[in-house]
Amino acid sequence: MLSTISAAAGSPPPELHTVRDYVRWGASAFARAGLVFGHGTDNALDEAFHLVLWALKLPADLPAIYLEAALTAEEKSSVWALLRERIETRRPAAYLIGEIQFCGLPFTVDERVLIPRSPIGEMIGQGFQPWLTVEPLRILDLCAGSGCIGIACAQAFLEARVDLAELSPAALEVCRLNIARHHCGEQVHALGSDLFEALQGQRYELIVSNPPYVPEAEVDALGPEFQHEPRLALAAGSDGMDLVERILREAPAHLSEGGLLVCEIGGSQEEFNARFPDIPVSWPEFERGGDGVFVIGKADLEDWLQGN
Ligand SMILES: C[S@@+](CC[C@H](N)C(=O)[O-])C[C@H]1O[C@@H](n2cnc3c(N)ncnc32)[C@H](O)[C@@H]1O
Repeated sequence: MLSTISAAAGSPPPELHTVRDYVRWGASAFARAGLVFGHGTDNALDEAFHLVLWALKLPADLPAIYLEAALTAEEKSSVWALLRERIETRRPAAYLIGEIQFCGLPFTVDERVLIPRSPIGEMIGQGFQPWLTVEPLRILDLCAGSGCIGIACAQAFLEARVDLAELSPAALEVCRLNIARHHCGEQVHALGSDLFEALQGQRYELIVSNPPYVPEAEVDALGPEFQHEPRLALAAGSDGMDLVERILREAPAHLSEGGLLVCEIGGSQEEFNARFPDIPVSWPEFERGGDGVFVIGKADLEDWLQGN
């Protein structure tokens, strides 16, 4: 398939004319090439639609009537080139276009950071209700990557000061780009830190984290698209729980009275339950898809740690 596409490089099939034609062609070509989705879309048609509209600088909620609009020769070339690049490089769409939406906000992304997709976004939209029982004046986004979770929290809780902690200097650069992009430098501060190491004495009503949690051996088995993401953002020891354990042990010293820890562990619930069988966490349910996020209050975490 790849050789067929390469052979036709630079020359879109003459049968293709309209926006709809290019979306349809892209979806079929993506499916034939066996692309892997999961970075903002979960199927070939949505991914093709997203890329075609982006290349044409058209809005995502384009009225259907414009799907029948014909493309100019120049537009055909640029749409064609983008669809081919997606197939030939296996780079996720968000890296190709340098941007993704999270919590209704645009975030700059590239290969220095994980592509935002955490279901925690839905919890932010609901103000972490019913789990959060105190007004958060200080919030920590631990393992911040692009900064998407912390910046979205800052917009949801305008009175809160938000710290973004991240180990990777390269990811921190992107994080700072997003702070500048959202003009929230007064409210949001990014810092280099190995988990809580640079946060001695700091306490928060809310700690939110999407740490690396994929078992080391499983990272290589993820599709080629995932290999473009930083390994540091995905892998965390033989069962994926190395950072989660450190977070559980160190979080109480950084939670205020009544404070809440929210942490994503994605598909690693089996590993989590095996490593922490009796921990009294709750698992929120998500209307917009996703799972594997636990919440636990400071008091319950301290009680559990006394016996562990
Ligand atoms: C799964 S990504 C999450 C990024 C972002 N919060 C999101 O939801 O898109 C995990 C992030 O944790 C960072 N990280 C890995 N080990 C870390 C550590 N020991 N301390 C702080 N950050 C770490 C990685 O560089 C990566 O940016």
